[in-house]
Amino acid sequence: MAGRIPQQFIDELLARVDLVELINARVNLRKAGREYSACCPFHDEKTPSFSVSPHKQFYHCFGCGAHGNAIGFLMAYDNLNFVEAVEDLAARSGLPIPREMTESAGDSHQALYTVLQQAADYFKRQLRSHPRAPQAVAYLKGRGVSGEIAARFDIGYAPPGWDNLIQELGGGKTQEALLLEAGLAIRKEGGGCYDRFRERIMFPIRDGRGRVIGFGGRVMGGDAQGSANAAGGTTPRTEEVEQRRERLPTTPGAAGPKYLNSPETPVFHKGSELYGLYQARQAVRNLERLLVVEGYMDVVALAQFDVPYVVATLGTATTREHLERLFRSVSDIVFCFDGDRAGRAAAWRALENALPVIREGRQIRYMFLPEGEDPDTIIRKEGRAGFEARIAKAVTFSDFFFEGLAAQVDMGSVDGQAQLVELARPYLSKITAGVLRYMMMARLAEIVRMTPDRLEVLLEGGSPRQGQSARKPSRPAAYKALTPVRKAIILLLNRPDLAAQAGDPGRFATLEAPGVGLLIELLDLLQEKPHLNCAAILAQQRDSADWHHLGKLAQLPLEIPADGLEREFLDVLRHLEKMSNEQTLDALLAKSGRQTLTEQEKAELQQRLKLKQGSN
Ligand code: CTP
Ligand code: MN
Repeated sequence: MAGRIPQQFIDELLARVDLVELINARVNLRKAGREYSACCPFHDEKTPSFSVSPHKQFYHCFGCGAHGNAIGFLMAYDNLNFVEAVEDLAARSGLPIPREMTESAGDSHQALYTVLQQAADYFKRQLRSHPRAPQAVAYLKGRGVSGEIAARFDIGYAPPGWDNLIQELGGGKTQEALLLEAGLAIRKEGGGCYDRFRERIMFPIRDGRGRVIGFGGRVMGGDAQGSANAAGGTTPRTEEVEQRRERLPTTPGAAGPKYLNSPETPVFHKGSELYGLYQARQAVRNLERLLVVEGYMDVVALAQFDVPYVVATLGTATTREHLERLFRSVSDIVFCFDGDRAGRAAAWRALENALPVIREGRQIRYMFLPEGEDPDTIIRKEGRAGFEARIAKAVTFSDFFFEGLAAQVDMGSVDGQAQLVELARPYLSKITAGVLRYMMMARLAEIVRMTPDRLEVLLEGGSPRQGQSARKPSRPAAYKALTPVRKAIILLLNRPDLAAQAGDPGRFATLEAPGVGLLIELLDLLQEKPHLNCAAILAQQRDSADWHHLGKLAQLPLEIPADGLEREFLDVLRHLEKMSNEQTLDALLAKSGRQTLTEQEKAELQQRLKLKQGSN
């Protein structure tokens, strides 16, 4: 992945694309007044509640609450991540994507890919030719890894020593900088650098296109963490190395964690990469299912025993990004976890991350191995047939979900059943509205012996904000009923140009009303960047925790004719000024009853009174 995409570019992109055209290519839109409407593509419905505003460049659904701009639509509908959606739109608009980097992104990354590939080649050669190679080969053989599978995964060997790779690929400051950036070398305190991977079995990690982006390195010893000494993984004590060591910081040799992975680099992001995905795609022509396991060795062993549709996360929990990536390749995912408590906990975390990602047509299942086993050991005992029999018995997403929740309550009691509904509520609300969510609700209704309708009332009753079900669309609140602050915000979202007429936003700073901070922030933004449209406003990357409220406000229909918006905005501002004036006045008057006001306060009181008379 390249550097950050500048906000300015995203603004420009959103100003250029036509959301109506973009959506109409996928969903049949009908003109309805100023907007376009259709049956919502994100949930099941018979009457249209999905609406697209050409003016706001924003879509929303009254039924399921889905909403967003062109980027959001592509992410949800075409199932892309943010960067991919931006790339797609940029390609449509013929705009090259600028990246916030010092060097040109393409060039610097190409150099990284090259040096990583060179490193992989080097490690692979060492496994054949280094004087110590027989030890590494013996380790792999001892673990049952065949030569053929080692070659398929390009397994290599980082020999002992502090600068083998640097000597091999180094030469000059540029190369040194590249090795550092690629995560292959570590900077020394006094200057210079040393090899990150020493005396380890090396697993190159490839991206979806097959490019080497990082490595996992395993000590050649037992299971215990940091047990390299006992396991024969000691740092070599040749004189030369010993000498160098004097000048090194107190870094460990090959000892240390069982696995050492590349750090985050411009091309390697642990939280989204999957080990083995490239090889799985290579090995299976029409990949339909992917098995997700925990370790490098598990992937390698399964592939060797003819279960090649397998990937591993890189020592992290399964993230939403992982899942999106997996579902772009297949529609059937099976997670394989250890049967112990840690395995169950990891599975539950994976389930939580999966909630926003699952929907009908996407299957997730979970399988648990007996305690003390992992896929590597099981496949060697039971072979492909035995292992696939276990896959066939994997539990479904909804079974695992409801069993997990039911285990937390006493299902024999009515109280327990009510608790179950409460426990399920926040999870269910994270699932995209649609057939699958409906089926999960129906399942819950069955478990607690309630009619789905009654359950729906119960689910919606407790927490009105999450209540919008796919079956009973509820209209959002009317514009007229809103507070003036919210009105001002909504008017700005519809007509960002009005900000120019708002004067200094700072004068509302003392106003005490919910949402004032957001209004001021919005005014500041629009006065600085008057060209932003509603979609681009929502796409701003802001620290303000309230910024996402704008998404909801942008969905509200305005019951005001287009030519009346400016007057309405000015009226609302006047109202806010009046509120602000009265608040200050009240405070000053209250204070004057308790103590003498300063000259300055007296003057302000006079001025505020005059203002009040003037506005009445
Ligand atoms: N892992 C890691 N750092 C560690 C331990 C584990 O990054 N110190 C990651 C690796 O990706 C590893 C995975 O977590 O493959 C699973 O760890 P574990 O189950 O301990 O190892 P195995 O894969 O079973 O490795 P082996 O069979 O070689 O012991
Ligand atoms: Mn293992």
